[in-house]
Amino acid sequence: MVTIREVATRAGCSVATVSRVTNGGPVGQQTRARVLEAADELGYLPNETARSLVGGSTSTVAVIVPDVTNPFFPELVAAIQEVTEHSQHMLFLVQDHDDPETSSRTIRNLRRRQVSGFVVVGGAHLGPEQLALLDGVPHVVLDRGTDSYPAPVVRSDNRAGGRLAAEHLISLGHERIAWIGGPPELTNSQDRLAGLHEALEAARLLPDPDLETDGDFLEQSGYDAMLRLRATRQGFTAVQAGNDLMAIGALRALDELGLQVPQQVSVVGFDDIHLAGYIRPGLTTIHQQITEMGRHAARLLLERDGPAAARPTDPAGHHVFDVRLVRRGSTGPVGGP
Ligand code: RIB
Repeated sequence: MVTIREVATRAGCSVATVSRVTNGGPVGQQTRARVLEAADELGYLPNETARSLVGGSTSTVAVIVPDVTNPFFPELVAAIQEVTEHSQHMLFLVQDHDDPETSSRTIRNLRRRQVSGFVVVGGAHLGPEQLALLDGVPHVVLDRGTDSYPAPVVRSDNRAGGRLAAEHLISLGHERIAWIGGPPELTNSQDRLAGLHEALEAARLLPDPDLETDGDFLEQSGYDAMLRLRATRQGFTAVQAGNDLMAIGALRALDELGLQVPQQVSVVGFDDIHLAGYIRPGLTTIHQQITEMGRHAARLLLERDGPAAARPTDPAGHHVFDVRLVRRGSTGPVGGP
């Protein structure tokens, strides 16, 4: 690990000056630039912050999410900020687009700027390299997590959500259910598909790989996936999407294909973003406790031993939140009313 002394030598200044730069103290512009440049070149990361997150009056918490254009994440960040603001912490919001390189660079830069804690959305891009960069600074993983993460993971019961959505469709008589998944490497999308398979098998229906395709959790990919599924000529009467944005994209494709929802095809999403209740027909979906999860993750970070640091709710150390089905107009019985 690069030391503060090596940075001082490289920058041609004292250790005290480097320390003032990393603590935001008074330093001349040119000296600050030289120190930050030396820190970048050497890959210097300040040691664990002396300031405790609890009660730290000027600490900054960084939130790293994949994509702020997906309404799920702004709703999550707003909940986190409710808690961090209440305890006078500044909040940095950064996107990493699920990209490992961007994630590493972002964490490294934020650590150099004396960030005191991180809430990061997990995923395949949060691998050993990124987790090593988080070592020594408090952090919580949100939304997508694997059992191997050493940090607390706060997420929904995605498998139960996938099962609930499929059970709803099966209860309406649907036996041929198409699936539009999120990025297949993400644990939340994998678990939602597993829930669909569980419900099909419980109803003695076989999953059909020809009816399964993947998107990227954004609306265009749901639109494209819907056109691909229709082009396969595999009959289906319902579509289960891995999130609301892809379900909304699928609704647009069905509309352009002249297919009526839900009379001819039923559609279910996942998230229950604000928009799901405003489109017509309203989107039947699985409600994630977005606000509650955001608040809980922030409290876990800030109140190390506080009430929110309640024991994890599953053996993997994850804090798992229940989900529920929200019925709206996009689902109906097979063949229409
Ligand atoms: O809509 C974005 C999706 O990615 C949500 O389902 C949420 O779980 C996030 O992981």
